[in-house]
Amino acid sequence: SRVVKLAVIPGDGIGPEVIAEAEKVLDAVTADSDVRFEKTRFSLGAGRFLETGDTLTDDDLAAITAQDAILLGAVGGTPGDPRLKDANIERGLLLKLRFTLDHYVNLRPSKLFVGAPGPLANPGEIDFVVVREGTEGPYVGNGGAIRVGTPQEVANETSVNTAFGVERVVRHAFQLAARRRQKLTLVHKTNVLVHAGAIWKRVVDEVATEHPEVAVDYLHVDAATIFLVTDPARFDVIVTDNLFGDILTDLAGAVTGGIGLAASGNINPDGTFPSMFEPVHGSAPDIAGQQKADPTAAILSIALLLDHLGFPAEAARVSDAVEADIAGRTGARSTAEIGSAITARL
Ligand code: NAD
Ligand code: IPM
Ligand code: MN
Repeated sequence: SRVVKLAVIPGDGIGPEVIAEAEKVLDAVTADSDVRFEKTRFSLGAGRFLETGDTLTDDDLAAITAQDAILLGAVGGTPGDPRLKDANIERGLLLKLRFTLDHYVNLRPSKLFVGAPGPLANPGEIDFVVVREGTEGPYVGNGGAIRVGTPQEVANETSVNTAFGVERVVRHAFQLAARRRQKLTLVHKTNVLVHAGAIWKRVVDEVATEHPEVAVDYLHVDAATIFLVTDPARFDVIVTDNLFGDILTDLAGAVTGGIGLAASGNINPDGTFPSMFEPVHGSAPDIAGQQKADPTAAILSIALLLDHLGFPAEAARVSDAVEADIAGRTGARSTAEIGSAITARL
């Protein structure tokens, strides 16, 4: 039987609540299979910082890097908490993991399940995947500020786009589109961000010649938000940069029944480093500790994890159980009730 070493980072806020349910599902779906998950728990996030002053120690990072995969709930405190002013959990922990472990494909599927409480009257069949670049863009921290706090303050946040970085994620998106409905949409803002836009457009055009079966489309990001609401069924694979992908996937989550259903994988396709699976949502301080969070996004992240590790049958059992649960939803349920109901359907 195969042993998979899994780092579990429950994190802050609703993170531990939704991860408890995801673990129920993982334990149940692997109970009688020939894969065994050997879990190591890491206490990381705003809570750990407030207790010890640590964000991510070298020892933590080394231990996480030695795992086969990572399951993360959510990290981050209440926005504006003055005690976290210098911590920057998001950069020092979450982005540090994505960058160090070279998670250049941030895979964020959006599917409208039957019965999901989507806000659209006539949504059509929504089933697309956003391939968000995960290691570049304005996220790299290439910037700075001068004359801070004065009327002459200047703050720069430079978006980094390399030929290497854009090409590898675009190739991945084309390969995914080729296996799906053969449609790829590049989303950018080439009319204004001309330097970064040019490289994305050129790389997409070049890789497109290797995939004549894939129909290629382009949308400016502002227009893309229109179509994500008025005609989301038109999309198959969307490829975009780190920041646009962040924004579009919260919108995509809302359109497909709520952010509580949106799963993601931070993938290192080369397999050099462990990939990390997490809900798209954050630590939701407004509902934390009340068993109000929907654990479905975390549970669907388990399906992405199983698929990535080469267990498609187990992955399908998880997504089928989620699909059945959503189809049968009626009144309000607690986080644990949803997790247990999905587990019972496995
Ligand atoms: P958020 O996603 O935590 O919350 C936005 C809204 O969605 C809130 O009203 C929340 O209650 C709701 N929501 C989120 N998840 C839900 C769920 N599973 N079920 C039901 N409702 C849900 O975004 P935010 O408020 O901007 O951020 C809060 C903190 O989380 C910040 O510190 C932020 O930096 C961090 N964050 C972390 C991650 C991550 O760890 N991957 C992702 C996003 C935000
Ligand atoms: C996400 C989050 C993160 C991001 C933040 C918390 C750094 O919003 O995973 O979508 O912007 O990528
Ligand atoms: Mn986000």
